[in-house]
Amino acid sequence: MAAFDHRQQPYYKNVTLTAPDMTDTLTASSLGSFARGRRVLVTSALPYANGHIHLGHLVEYIQTDIWVRFQRMRGARVLYVCADDTHGTSIMIRARQEGRSEQELIAAMSAAHQRDFTGFQIAFDHYGSTNSERNREYCAQIWGALRSADFVVEREVTQLFDPTAGVFLADRFVKGRCPRCDTPDQYGDSCDHCGSTYSPTELKDPVSTLSGARPELKSAHHLFVKIEKLRGFLTEWTQEPGRLQPEIANYLKGHFLADELRDWDVSRPAPYFGFEIPDSPGNYWYVWFDAPIGYLAATSEWCDANGEAFDAWWRSTDTEIYHFIGKDIVYFHTLFWPAMLHVAGFPLPKRVQAHGFLTVNGEKMSKSKGTFVLASTYLEHLDPAHLRYFYASKLGPKVDDLDLNLEELAVKVNADLVGKVVNLASRTARFVKESGLSQEYPEDGGLFREAAASGIAIAEAYEACDFARAMRLIMGLADRANEYIDREEPWKLKKQPSSAAALRDVCTVALNLYWQLVTYLAPVLPKLAEQSEKLLGGSLASFAAAEQPLLGTPVAEFEHLMQRVDSKKVEAVMAATRDAATDAAASAVGVSAPSPTSAPVLNQPFEDDGEALAGEPLAPECSFDDFAKIDLRVARVLTAVVIPEANKLLRLTVSLGGEATREIIAGIKSAYAPEALVGRLVVVVANLAPRKMKFGVSQGMVIAAGPGAAEIYILAPDSGAKPGQRVH
Ligand code: MSP
Ligand code: ZN
Repeated sequence: MAAFDHRQQPYYKNVTLTAPDMTDTLTASSLGSFARGRRVLVTSALPYANGHIHLGHLVEYIQTDIWVRFQRMRGARVLYVCADDTHGTSIMIRARQEGRSEQELIAAMSAAHQRDFTGFQIAFDHYGSTNSERNREYCAQIWGALRSADFVVEREVTQLFDPTAGVFLADRFVKGRCPRCDTPDQYGDSCDHCGSTYSPTELKDPVSTLSGARPELKSAHHLFVKIEKLRGFLTEWTQEPGRLQPEIANYLKGHFLADELRDWDVSRPAPYFGFEIPDSPGNYWYVWFDAPIGYLAATSEWCDANGEAFDAWWRSTDTEIYHFIGKDIVYFHTLFWPAMLHVAGFPLPKRVQAHGFLTVNGEKMSKSKGTFVLASTYLEHLDPAHLRYFYASKLGPKVDDLDLNLEELAVKVNADLVGKVVNLASRTARFVKESGLSQEYPEDGGLFREAAASGIAIAEAYEACDFARAMRLIMGLADRANEYIDREEPWKLKKQPSSAAALRDVCTVALNLYWQLVTYLAPVLPKLAEQSEKLLGGSLASFAAAEQPLLGTPVAEFEHLMQRVDSKKVEAVMAATRDAATDAAASAVGVSAPSPTSAPVLNQPFEDDGEALAGEPLAPECSFDDFAKIDLRVARVLTAVVIPEANKLLRLTVSLGGEATREIIAGIKSAYAPEALVGRLVVVVANLAPRKMKFGVSQGMVIAAGPGAAEIYILAPDSGAKPGQRVH
């Protein structure tokens, strides 16, 4: 049966201590070795390949990575896998807009994701892709099982269809006025304003966010899984103590599992980027069918590459499977996914650990507010260790949201990590560089023993994903270590040659207390652990490192361990995020600017110099009639694609309203990504004689300012303007 269950048998009971010289001082277990033999398979949710990793995602990947490192330090064999989630309409559309294949797009995204993860010291054993042959095989296997157990039904579904883009529209690709409260600009499934939920077919004046076209109703064949047949099984499975967080188990029981479960729609008609269903040509598995199967595929690929047996990892009841996910994808992991595994005869996860959502400065992450910080932007300016620690200090075992405030991060990191932890070493290591550490552990009033004994509570907190508690316990120990140094004042001892032995003893205590702290922090701060190993020469591979003092060992040259957080760099992150958002904001599809609620206040004087005007003097005067010859019109960009052979050109289709469209070849590629243009309003010269160019005929011009290259600024009308209106 299952290897070990911490609820039945606290691991610190009945374990004798092996450390010889500290036996009498410790009550704790051998913290490093208890979990040996435990086999743990851990996953994080597979990030979508249609966007970059941001600080919200990182809550999850940092949380999981910390837990994985913690398990390893206790001797468990851990396999940590993840992959990109590559299928679905969004990827297909984005690839179209960028004028490249889906394969190219997902390969580039996978590389970017992995770069970001590595930058944050998130160390997967294997990073796969749901668009792999192995994944297709497992999908077919599970599908076969569902078919043979008679879980599949088929019927027609009527859905909104975008006639311009030629695709069926998922809820979030439709916007319109709320059928209940009439608020404009709401998504197809729910209203941000009044909170009501509805079907996209109920939206008033719906538009496709892909093309701006008015969606039509169209019917298509779909395949469903009759998940209701498993309601009894799922109720039992989800309610098993320790399986899910209690708030989630209760919610599922009270809301979902209390009523008949609706059939789950697992297919999408062509065109769709995904796997075609082998026994239903023209239909594809819905992305959420093949995505979790990616966990199996990634495990299997790792096994192949490492000469391990897949069955030993996923088919064995000796493996504990843990999924870490966000609260938004709970149903998929606690109803659909266990249902699939169960029908296909796979062992099920031991625990599904859900976390809350990241808010920034108390609000939902927002591009326009400059709080949608990308992982790569953070890494350009700040230390990943700081975010790892900050998240650890905020993450509890519950599903609560957590808030990131970069100023708070700076204060916390500077106070805790730099002020309390690293300072212990930086104030003492230099003093014992010549002498090394004392041969015998000096009297310290019980500090080392106390910190060693705390390892139990700290480990329990880590195990339960209560990292916030673990960090509090560790910082409590750090406080006591600092009190010790403040009391003993090694810098004063240093000045008295007669106190050399005392100095060495005080530093030996301080550095050992530091060593214990770094042991406990190692899952969160792997780089600091590595640097500390270099400084003090021990190994932090196991939690047991906190039980044995380092004695008689040399101390290396002290090198800087961690920088304080510089508030200028924090500001740089926010500024870079805001800049990126301003570029993208102009592209928001059909979003009207919020109306000001109070008179606008101008805080900063304008500082527009005369350079631009001087660089391009005014043209000779023209008459009003001359001007009137040029027919400028408001237009909406329907499609934008890269012309791959041309360096600077994008091919746009713009609408002048109704049926009137124009193909325009515009030299704006250096400043605008095609997807940033689709849907937005621009101004075009609508009566310009068509011009034959190398890549086709251009039927107009998009009005823009700026000297070129990255500095091209498309002119946009204020919100409310309609395609076709003349610009006078
Ligand atoms: N592709 C799906 C998961 C498939 S798993 C078989 C998905 N991808 S995602 O990119 O949108 O999100 C990946 C993970 O990051 C999810 O667990 C999600 O909850 C988490 N987060 C994404 N944004 C987040 C925040 N703002 N805050 C915290 N976690 C967030 O969902
Ligand atoms: Zn509403």
